Amino acid sequence: MEPFSNDLLKDKVVLVTGGATGLGRAMGEKFVKLGAKLAITGRREEVLKQTSDELSANGYSVFYKPCDVRDPAQISALVDAVEQHYGAIDILVNNAAGNFISPTERLSPRAVDAVLNIVLHGTFYATLEVGKRWIEQKRTGTMLNIVTTYASSGSGYVVPSAAAKAGVLALTRSLAVEWAPHGIRQVAIAPGPFPTEGAWSRLSPTPELEEKMLDRIPMKRVGDKEELANLAAFLVSDYASYINGEVVTIDGGEWLQGAGQFNDLRQVTHEQWDVLAQMTRKGK
Ligand code: HXC
Ligand code: NAP
Repeated sequence: MEPFSNDLLKDKVVLVTGGATGLGRAMGEKFVKLGAKLAITGRREEVLKQTSDELSANGYSVFYKPCDVRDPAQISALVDAVEQHYGAIDILVNNAAGNFISPTERLSPRAVDAVLNIVLHGTFYATLEVGKRWIEQKRTGTMLNIVTTYASSGSGYVVPSAAAKAGVLALTRSLAVEWAPHGIRQVAIAPGPFPTEGAWSRLSPTPELEEKMLDRIPMKRVGDKEELANLAAFLVSDYASYINGEVVTIDGGEWLQGAGQFNDLRQVTHEQWDVLAQMTRKGK
């Protein structure tokens, strides 16, 4: 069932980085269904073309141009092309990312850069390019940054990603204040696990790792891309116009399960609780 009226984002021009695959594609599909004009980018032209062809076949407006977000000149050319195609941009979704699991001591400086350059620098460059133009053109706009729950907590074994996403979260909160007078709104989403080819192949490559992941989630299931796309549509829409600098977690309660000191007691059986109750009541 569709929670929004199909003109929620009517004629809004949305640029989604990493928009040809995974969560970026799911968000883009949702945006066009709600009336938006979509522009997607990524490094692989054939993947962009395929997504664009599939969405356009349903009558939606989709523009694509390859761009490596690590290169500010390519971002500038991309934004030029989107403005030329649609006239202007209303919403920027910084979704492109790179990540993989590894013990930190095994990382080379190039491996650190591979992640930081996409996630932190790429997001910053795109934000800067679009933000400068909005300020110059006296246009209002919304920026949505896709982070992770461990942007706040940190996490071992994905340390470049954790450091980069923490930086993106700081960028979101900082510009929420600095650019609000220009009518530029900042929001972020912190997803828990959502199975995508890109994430699963690099972060959960075995069934054992996937099972461990489910154990960490109180709802005992991973996220559905549609759930994230609905949240994104709301956050970039005018109905969220007073939400600025906020990060919304969508993880089935995963990070709270890890954080709550006594949450492991969920493994205690009914019978064990009977014994424990006798013991704890003695304290009275
Ligand atoms: C250790 C690795 C490595 C790995 C690459 N490197 N993969 N080191 N373990 N698994 C090292 C290489 O050896 C090299 O260092 C350096 O990193 C650069 O490698 P390249 O392959 O040249 O990098 P590049 O082509 O730029 O690719 C970037 C990438 C790649 C990040 C490594 O995975 C990529 O393109 N990812 C894009 C999509 C993606 O990651 N999606 C997942 C997002 S999920 P040396 O020193 O040897 O030259 C996410 C959140 C998930 O972000 C949260 C889940 C709950
Ligand atoms: P994905 O499909 O691998 O998405 C990453 C996208 O970024 C790809 O389309 C990729 O396209 C693009 N990209 C990578 N490097 C780029 C570069 N240098 N320039 C331009 N585009 C680049 O994985 P996903 O799971 O959908 O991830 C989407 C977002 O959600 C990411 O920000 C990720 O950190 C976040 N996230 C995902 C999960 C999850 O469980 N899936 C959880 C938390 C957060 P090219 O390779 O063609 O460039």
